[in-house]
Amino acid sequence: MMDDKLMNDTRSVWERLAAFWDDSLKEGNDFQKRLIMPATDRLLGVVQGQTILDACCGNGNYARVLASRGATVVAFDGAPTFIERARQRTSPDLSITYTVMDATDHAALLELGINRFDAVVCSMALMDLPTIEPLFQATRKLLKPTGRFVFSVCHPAFNSPRHIHTAELISDNGKTQQRFGVKTEYYLTEYETLSEGLLHQPEPHPIFHRPISGIFNRAFEAGFVVDGFEEPSFPYEKSANAFSFAKRPEIPPALVVRLR
Ligand SMILES: C[S@@+](CC[C@H](N)C(=O)[O-])C[C@H]1O[C@@H](n2cnc3c(N)ncnc32)[C@H](O)[C@@H]1O
Repeated sequence: MMDDKLMNDTRSVWERLAAFWDDSLKEGNDFQKRLIMPATDRLLGVVQGQTILDACCGNGNYARVLASRGATVVAFDGAPTFIERARQRTSPDLSITYTVMDATDHAALLELGINRFDAVVCSMALMDLPTIEPLFQATRKLLKPTGRFVFSVCHPAFNSPRHIHTAELISDNGKTQQRFGVKTEYYLTEYETLSEGLLHQPEPHPIFHRPISGIFNRAFEAGFVVDGFEEPSFPYEKSANAFSFAKRPEIPPALVVRLR
């Protein structure tokens, strides 16, 4: 269990991590470019001419993808350094308005504009928020009635801080087999802990595990239904590190969800 101070101070941790994360991710790392962005693209569909909110945008790399396809984008993050880096990376021909905002502040979120957005995206950030009700509740109101909300999270069943990656060498009738899996003892109970999203980041950040039912039930309470769902995984790579998800093509490290 983390102390209350850290739980309430997650944005300060992200502010201290923002420069390192931006230097590492740039316009997208493997995880983003091969798994998260393609699945989010598929669930979002056409974005040209639409007004889209990117919540918890980090360095804004996906906001720039959307804007380069003709969307008008509003993008916010809780860490001022992420927003500064995002602005530096954005060419003037892209229609993106960046702002610093707290995704757990319902009243502030509503100021972005009721019924304004055709779509809202929130990539790989819900598990970093101590509370997700305000974002779900506000997003329902920020969206036009026909709008969609596409979010992604670390897969709670296979990719949370308490999962252990297993690598086994098995002799089966004289044939040696390597097996790569994931084991867990915790899934249903919500908990908070510290974790590293990027290897060797300067300090860990707080993470808030919720089972899929915990995430979906909060979305349902906000008036959403789920109408799109992907569990992307990496194709098998023989040369990948034994602890990489590329050795576990049957195990999706993320889930990507569309709500309406
Ligand atoms: C794992 S990063 C993902 C960033 C980006 N969406 C991406 O896919 O690269 C999580 C992001 O959530 C942001 N964040 C954490 N707590 C926040 C809060 N309370 N309000 C707004 N943003 C927050 C962090 O600053 C960070 O940019």
